Amino acid sequence: MISTFRTAALCCCRRAGQGYKPNSLRNIQLRPFRRNQGTIAAEVGSTSATVTAVPNAATNRIVGRWLVGCSGLVIGAVVLGGVTRLTESGLSMVDWHLVREMKPPQTQEEWEAEFSKYQQFPEFKILNHDMTLPEFKFIFYMEWGHRMWGRLVGLSFILPALYFWRKGYFTRSLKGKVIGLCGFVFFQGLLGWYMVKSGLEEKPESHDIPRVSQYRLSAHLGSALLLYCASLWTGLTLLQSPQKIVETKNLMLLRRFAKGTGVLVFITALSGAFVAGLDAGLVYNSFPKMGERWIPDDLLAFSPTLKNFFENPTTVQFDHRILAISTLAAITGLYMFSRKVILPKRAKVAISLLTAMAYGQVALGITTLLLYVPTPIAATHQSGSLALLSLAVWVLAELRKVPK
Ligand code: HEM
Repeated sequence: MISTFRTAALCCCRRAGQGYKPNSLRNIQLRPFRRNQGTIAAEVGSTSATVTAVPNAATNRIVGRWLVGCSGLVIGAVVLGGVTRLTESGLSMVDWHLVREMKPPQTQEEWEAEFSKYQQFPEFKILNHDMTLPEFKFIFYMEWGHRMWGRLVGLSFILPALYFWRKGYFTRSLKGKVIGLCGFVFFQGLLGWYMVKSGLEEKPESHDIPRVSQYRLSAHLGSALLLYCASLWTGLTLLQSPQKIVETKNLMLLRRFAKGTGVLVFITALSGAFVAGLDAGLVYNSFPKMGERWIPDDLLAFSPTLKNFFENPTTVQFDHRILAISTLAAITGLYMFSRKVILPKRAKVAISLLTAMAYGQVALGITTLLLYVPTPIAATHQSGSLALLSLAVWVLAELRKVPK
């Protein structure tokens, strides 16, 4: 701090052409100036000195709350996106304008014009040819709500980021993370439209129900989940200082185990998006067996074999089951192993909640399957995956190392 003062004083004196005189420190007013790690504002009077350095604990708390709040908004977008898909509303808006589409149709003529645009696309022609205007308004508002929520998420990241940046609240490494998060939000919007476009294309050779590509759906969901985890992680690590835990071999193993488990939860959630994208929850609605068999006959029916893992509904459902059960086993193992390590209370609570949520999520998944994917239960199952991911991120934040 003292050396910082000296540098500041030196700059000011040189600018005034006076050279550096240590005693003159007492009588000068220092203007705010910037350094790598933030801004130091200093004011030195003849008898007292007040120093406020940013970033500091208070600004970190503000930034941490902002990022955790933003991750909450991302949850809202994911849930709304899931309900939009489950109510088959996602293909109701057939074009994309960043600003113009914010105003939905107002008059009867505008609604009819919008409806007739929708009627040019395969979903209306194949699936909804007897749809009425009031029914169209419902699916339109679902998709419009999801897109507007996306804009809200974007603004909630970008506007405060600009303000905090100007105020010097970000360290250099935080600046990089914030740019990454804001870029991700923008990318997420583009991916959303890229996904919708795949459901609007005419496929003359196909008489199947029009749906978006399962690859693009999982990319859209996966990138939303990444944005969510990154924002939550950054926010949590700013809000909570790491707790001191005695570094033992078991603790190091537990940390690695927790990281692996987090990755497994993420992969299972992504495989769920493939199940949703292919409507694979509507084949083999029995558990634990698939029909009469543990391993169904048509598991590898497509050629080449690799195609089955992404395009065969049977294989996609089978994989989701296997991944889900492996995740449950891994989390149960993590819980049992954590009992061998002396942990602070908060870490223990986080691991116990993660374990309880894993059982709840598997029960929800099985219920979704046995009841032929009813919208409320399927939407709860999707939200359950966010709860599970959040708890996995919390466990990792609790177990992280105290920086030296
Ligand atoms: C750790 C456990 C699990 C996780 C993290 C998980 C995650 C997910 C996710 C993220 C989706 C996508 C939802 C969407 O995009 O709308 C999904 C869909 C689905 N999951 Fe799971 N799941 C788990 C366990 C299970 C289990 C054990 C079953 C049943 C055996 C199951 C059955 C389903 C079904 C049928 C769908 C499709 C629902 C739809 O069409 O909307 N899940 N899962």
